[in-house]
Amino acid sequence: MLFPGEVFTNTTDFDTGIRQLIPRYDEMLDAITRCLPATTNRILELGCGTGELSFKLMKRCPSVQVVAVDYSPRMLQFAKQKIQAFGYADRWTGIEADFGNWANEPTTAEIGTGFDACVSSLAIHHLTDEMKLKLFRRISTSLNPNGWFWNADPILPELPLLKEVYQTVREEWVQHQGTTVAEIRDRTSSSSTQGHSNPDQLATLSAHLQMLTTAGFNSLAVPWKYYNLAVFGGCI
Ligand SMILES: C[S@@+](CC[C@H](N)C(=O)[O-])C[C@H]1O[C@@H](n2cnc3c(N)ncnc32)[C@H](O)[C@@H]1O
Repeated sequence: MLFPGEVFTNTTDFDTGIRQLIPRYDEMLDAITRCLPATTNRILELGCGTGELSFKLMKRCPSVQVVAVDYSPRMLQFAKQKIQAFGYADRWTGIEADFGNWANEPTTAEIGTGFDACVSSLAIHHLTDEMKLKLFRRISTSLNPNGWFWNADPILPELPLLKEVYQTVREEWVQHQGTTVAEIRDRTSSSSTQGHSNPDQLATLSAHLQMLTTAGFNSLAVPWKYYNLAVFGGCI
C-alpha cells in the first residue's frame, strides 16, 4: 500500500508515468516557475515528490534555496539522489514531514518561516478542505510580505457535464502518449489514509479561491488552467 500521492509502485516509474498520466504536466509546473521572480531567494515546496518542480525552480532562480517537504522517505530519497547527481545539493534541503502536521503545529517540523514563496504541485488535494484551509493559513504566516503561494492541483468539475469532458481529455492525452490508462494503472498501487493525507479530496477552483481569501491572501490569480488542472494562488 502506497502513501497517498506516491502513485507508482516503483518510485523509478514516477517521472515517466506522471507525464503520461497528467496532461501538460511540464507546462503546468513551468507555469508556477514563470510566476516567480528569477531573483527569488527562499522557496518552500510542499509535497516535492521526486523533485521535478524543485529542479525547475532552481533553474529559473539561480540563487534560490529550496526547502522541500515530503512525508514519503522513498520519494524524498529519490529526489535527493537526483538533485545531488545534477549538482544542486547545496541549494536544496529535503525535510521528511507531513505538511498537515505543520499546518496544525508549526513547531513539529524544522520547516521555518520567512519564505519569499511557497509552491506545491499535485499534493495538497490529498487534504480535506478543513485541512487545506489550515494549511493555507499556515503558509500565509510563513511568507515574507509580498510573498507568493502557487499551487497546481486537480480540481472538481463545476458542472456534472464537465466530469465526462475532463475524463475524455485525460484518456485522449494518455492515448497520445502511445499508452492506455489501464497500462499506466498496472504500474500504480492504491493508497489509504496516511497522516493527514487521503486518496483524492478534490475541491472546485472557486472553493480553493474562497479558502485562499479566508486565509488572508490577496491578488488571487489563476495563471494556468487546462480542463481539470489548475495553477492558482495569491500574494500576502
Ligand atoms: C503526485 S506527487 C507530486 C510530486 C511533485 N510535486 C510533482 O509534481 O511531481 C505528490 C507528493 O506529495 C506527497 N504528499 C502527499 N501528502 C503529503 C503530506 N500530507 N505531507 C507531505 N507530503 C505529502 C507524496 O508523498 C508525493 O511525493
